Amino acid sequence: MQITVTVNGAERTVEVEPRLLLVHLLRDHLGLTGTHWGCDTSNCGTCVVWFDGTPVKSCTVLAAMADGHEVRTVEDLATADGLDPIQQAFSDHHGLQCGFCTPGMLMTGRWLLDRNPDPSEQEIREAISGQVCRCTGYQNIVRSVRAAAELSQVKGARA
Ligand code: FES
Ligand code: FES
Repeated sequence: MQITVTVNGAERTVEVEPRLLLVHLLRDHLGLTGTHWGCDTSNCGTCVVWFDGTPVKSCTVLAAMADGHEVRTVEDLATADGLDPIQQAFSDHHGLQCGFCTPGMLMTGRWLLDRNPDPSEQEIREAISGQVCRCTGYQNIVRSVRAAAELSQVKGARA
């Protein structure tokens, strides 16, 4: 079947099998390997992307369901002006070790900050509660999201 999905702002028309998962559409058909594929059982959250502006685990969505919809992946965070504040903060505050969970954490973190520019530690922990990190103990991830909130506020104040 043929589907047309807007991915990171660009329309992509692709021929896919009806059983293809969105995570595999992104990685294998569109070359967007920033979205990681971990468990395939909806547990780890490393595959999180935005679907019509909401974070979803892309291994739980059929590519066919994305026909006519908008998907945003981690590749869309950085711009010509540089890293998104959430990316900068993860880099500055050691929000990753192996980096496997990082794409999903970044997408959820960005989504949270867009809706709640000043989240508490508890709110950050709730937002990422569906995502697993085997390395960091979460402390530095939470710290990084908080730092991104502060960085965004500084940038906003300067604009
Ligand atoms: S690969 Fe999707 S939740 Fe683990
Ligand atoms: S940094 Fe390794 S799984 Fe999170």
